[in-house]
Amino acid sequence: MKNNYNKWFLFIMASVLLAKTSYAQNTPTLKQVFKNNFLIGAALNAAQISGKDTLAAPLIKTQFSAITPENIMKCEVIHPSWDKYNFDLADKIVAYGNQNNLPVNGHTLIWHSQLSPFVKQIQSKDSLLQFIKNHITTIASRYDGKIFSWDVVNEALEEDGSLRNSIFLEKLGPDYISEAFSIAAAAAPQTELYYNDYNIEQPKKRAGAIALIKNLQSKGIRINGVGIQGHWRSDNIPLKEIEESILAFSALGIKVMFTELDLTVLPNPWDVDAADVNQKAVYNEKMNPYAAGIPDSAQQKLTNGYESLFKLFYKYSDKINRITFWGVHDKQSWLNGWPIAGRTNYPLLFDRNGKPKPAYYKVIAVGKP
Ligand code: G3I
Repeated sequence: MKNNYNKWFLFIMASVLLAKTSYAQNTPTLKQVFKNNFLIGAALNAAQISGKDTLAAPLIKTQFSAITPENIMKCEVIHPSWDKYNFDLADKIVAYGNQNNLPVNGHTLIWHSQLSPFVKQIQSKDSLLQFIKNHITTIASRYDGKIFSWDVVNEALEEDGSLRNSIFLEKLGPDYISEAFSIAAAAAPQTELYYNDYNIEQPKKRAGAIALIKNLQSKGIRINGVGIQGHWRSDNIPLKEIEESILAFSALGIKVMFTELDLTVLPNPWDVDAADVNQKAVYNEKMNPYAAGIPDSAQQKLTNGYESLFKLFYKYSDKINRITFWGVHDKQSWLNGWPIAGRTNYPLLFDRNGKPKPAYYKVIAVGKP
């Protein structure tokens, strides 16, 4: 009797394993489906880079064809004081990318946000210029030939297309952008160099980005591409402006990428598209409606949003080089903490258990109808 029971148990376990294997073999992954169209990237956080996020680990290897460090190459982590650098996790992600054939996009060299405290205290123009030189030269030359690209300058524009009023603009004037790209080009001759920003699909800000890129080009300074971040609302994706932007940016002769894609499903306190990490609002339960789970109506909006977006990306795949999601799964997303801390958001293609969501299957179907 006991023997029979054991046999049945083994038979059932073997069937489950077989079914699982054939499911995995028959379901195409994002990187497989879009391999002739564009790279599919993911932003990795510290736990993922150090291998502690076991939920994300198999997804990173099977689903994605490019990676970006979400935070660990930012000034406040990689360059904590004037002559001290912290390359631990940056070296890890670069090695991981090289071992697994995943091109790494460095994020980011010059950004007004997440600066180390010592940078904010710099008073003179000369010292700030020296900081920019040291920072870019040290980091970009270390990884030249080992990473694929750099977001050299991040979020330098205001919504109206003018230059953002940052410490860099204030102390160095508008030429700091040319300086940054020139220094990066000298330090990293084998690495592609990009400008990266949010909302640059919107006409005024797009015009500012085009002016910025043309200014570099007119001076003969190398810029290889532009990253449209893509932090949008699932039920309000600016498809028309995105399409116009793909055409306008690619007409400049540079690569176009979507670099930080996620679609929030939660209410926004100001009813605008934004990604300014310094904008914060106070928690209340009304603003966190899906703490217990996402309802079908919101899931459907997310699914439709991703489907229409990927149809557009697919249409212009000759002009788009990379689509990077800002995270691997919902549990990791910065949108659980911004602009209101402690919410439960659902902006990516994989859920909190690392399982593909309905939006995932629609995206796959766009690439493999
Ligand atoms: O690492 C510390 C941890 O030690 C500490 O206990 C904890 C307490 O708050 O903070 C941790 O740092 C946080 C870090 O993310 C890592 O989790 C910072 O507070 C938090 O501000 C930081 O947020 C990041 C944000 O940029 C600011 O750097 C988000 O994860 C990241 O997704 C977001 O990414 C930006 C892009 O770089 C540029 N475009 C917009 C995009 C979204 O804001």
